[in-house]
Amino acid sequence: MVGDLVGEGARLRAAGPLAPVELPGGIRVWAVTHHAEARRLLTDSRLVKDIETWGAWRRGEIPRTWSMIGLADPGPSMLTFDGAEHRRLRTLTAQALTPRRVESMRPRIEAITSQLLDGLDELDRRERAAGAGGHVDLKARFAYPLPMNVISELMGIGSDTHPRLRELYDGFFSSVTPPDRVQAIMGELFELFGRIIEDKKRSPGDDLTSALLQASEDGDHLTGEEVLATLQVMIAAGHETTISLIVNAVVALLTHPEQLALVRSGEASWDGVIEETLRWDPPTTHVLIRFATEEIPVGDRVVGEGEALIVAYGAIGRDEAQHGARAQEFDVTGSPNRHLSFGHGPHVCPGAPLSRLEARIALPALFGRFPDLSLAVPASDLRNKPAVTQNELYELPVRLRP
Ligand code: HEM
Repeated sequence: MVGDLVGEGARLRAAGPLAPVELPGGIRVWAVTHHAEARRLLTDSRLVKDIETWGAWRRGEIPRTWSMIGLADPGPSMLTFDGAEHRRLRTLTAQALTPRRVESMRPRIEAITSQLLDGLDELDRRERAAGAGGHVDLKARFAYPLPMNVISELMGIGSDTHPRLRELYDGFFSSVTPPDRVQAIMGELFELFGRIIEDKKRSPGDDLTSALLQASEDGDHLTGEEVLATLQVMIAAGHETTISLIVNAVVALLTHPEQLALVRSGEASWDGVIEETLRWDPPTTHVLIRFATEEIPVGDRVVGEGEALIVAYGAIGRDEAQHGARAQEFDVTGSPNRHLSFGHGPHVCPGAPLSRLEARIALPALFGRFPDLSLAVPASDLRNKPAVTQNELYELPVRLRP
């Protein structure tokens, strides 16, 4: 499930609303591939997150060393519970990410953005002065550090951890990382976050990790293990996806200059760009695994009791039954744009307001500072990382000035 994501999405949709798919390691699961059925299933209480519901897991058919275990069983957090337990684990985090709370982060996000743009400017000038080609990897220098800094500040993590976190998450999200390496990465991530939590216990800060710890001391809100898993999930989900939202929007605009012109002339909005990127080229292609507590018919197939289901967001975004004849086109004027790329139902992404704000600040600032921004390689040379869940380029080589 890597490589040609658009072709794969089309094949998945053509296979019907419920398609049998094979994950790395030969693990067979169902994928929901049409918008309407996904929307329905995402609020169906017969689909749960508890891995013990998975028949193949209970029968010992899924090795603990399965390379995707970190996504199927990421530790006790909002990802792995439903109902009241899920609300208990999600409430504090979701409260910290409401549109109003996130809006208060605007000045800081703007400051990080302009600092990164200054850095790009400076690099470009130096390279040009030295007679170099003026190519920069916009992903490494802009799209990566912006969300990584923002989520780190929210959770209270120092930027000195970023280089190591980058290496670890590169391996964690890749579908070609050997299973024993994935185990080692998960071990190291939990060790690293565990040390941060111990520090926060000694000297709490004005951050969400300290707030989660405080809540666990005040009552029985979150156990130590739950705070640890929540921190891991927040850092993982809070940077990887937003990187790709920014990268994919830049690529889409640079390869559709007529759409960029509409935004520049004010005929279309940056919000339109963001929502259309989320629909047309979503950062997460397939997430997250759920398990059926009883038989659930979907189209002319059935998710059997104890079987697993993933949501094929990549396929769903271009479902013509939902988005009409323009489903395959990148059209920033398309409205309403009711995509599902942040999920739906009780597990809908709590980070949506934050990633939307980051992109809303980053994109106009980038195109404002570098109006002649262009791809430094043909679009067909841009390569996706091999990953089942992420839709992420290795790098985004651009020319900042002509
Ligand atoms: C859940 C996508 C940004 C934290 C989800 C889900 C999707 C998603 C599709 C639902 C998974 C499912 O139920 O199957 C995205 C995209 C993002 C983004 C496309 C950026 C463009 C963020 C950010 C954060 C975050 C910035 C943190 C600040 C989470 C968490 C969950 C989640 C904690 C689990 C919620 C739960 O299970 O109750 N995200 N996300 N995400 N996201 Fe995001």
